[in-house]
Amino acid sequence: MKKIIIGNWKMNPPTLKEAEQLFSVLAKGASSSKKTEIVICPPFVYLEKLSKIRTSKIKLGAQDAFYEEVGAFTGEISGEMLDNLRVKYVILGHSERRALGETNEMVNQKIKAVLAAGLIPILCVGETARDESHDYFNLVKIQLEECLAGVKKTFISKIIIAYEPVWAISTTPNRKDATSADSLEMAIFFKKILSDKFGREASRGRIIYGGSVSGKDAGDFLQNGGVDGLLPGRASLDAKKFVEIIKICEVLSK
Ligand code: 13P
Repeated sequence: MKKIIIGNWKMNPPTLKEAEQLFSVLAKGASSSKKTEIVICPPFVYLEKLSKIRTSKIKLGAQDAFYEEVGAFTGEISGEMLDNLRVKYVILGHSERRALGETNEMVNQKIKAVLAAGLIPILCVGETARDESHDYFNLVKIQLEECLAGVKKTFISKIIIAYEPVWAISTTPNRKDATSADSLEMAIFFKKILSDKFGREASRGRIIYGGSVSGKDAGDFLQNGGVDGLLPGRASLDAKKFVEIIKICEVLSK
């Protein structure tokens, strides 16, 4: 299975010109990569223009999609609309959207809609804080189970599951670094939950890590964190840093 590096640009950069510049530099930097799947998830409004920039290496993803196909849903974007723009991936259930009120039930509906539109969901789960009694295991278990409720077995290998502990994200106040051991422990826990629910088919899906990933720790997470890829936010806005992470992944995939 190819490793995957997904850049989440969040609500950046502020202008289309900067987005095109950044994407072009990334495309150049990624041009020699062979073993890594690379995805960039820009804001919706940049997707169309970026889809016209030639690159065979970088695929496009969106940061959300709505669960209805069409109709009176002001401000929403459907999976089909994204598919029309040749978008292949959609981040769903990011903690920054959950903080605005998105529930597991909504994420669940979105996952089903995105799969029906032929796109690949990147489901984000992760605890806000770690408590002494380890209750956070229960919290992520509920997130996984509720977000994946009713998803058909045949689809589970398509879904990418991202472990993103909110306490490790670069913009979280008083953040802390997560370690590859934290990631490994969660990846094993996720695999157990998924295989209990979906059987052997679940082992074909990918689990990735996100939370302040940089060139300093990307190799450690990929080698020792039990994951098949990474989801950098801040580092994906700096072409040099993002390309460095891709190169680390390439070397480790040899
Ligand atoms: P940072 O890499 O900026 O911590 O962002 C992680 C993230 O939220 C990616 O979805």
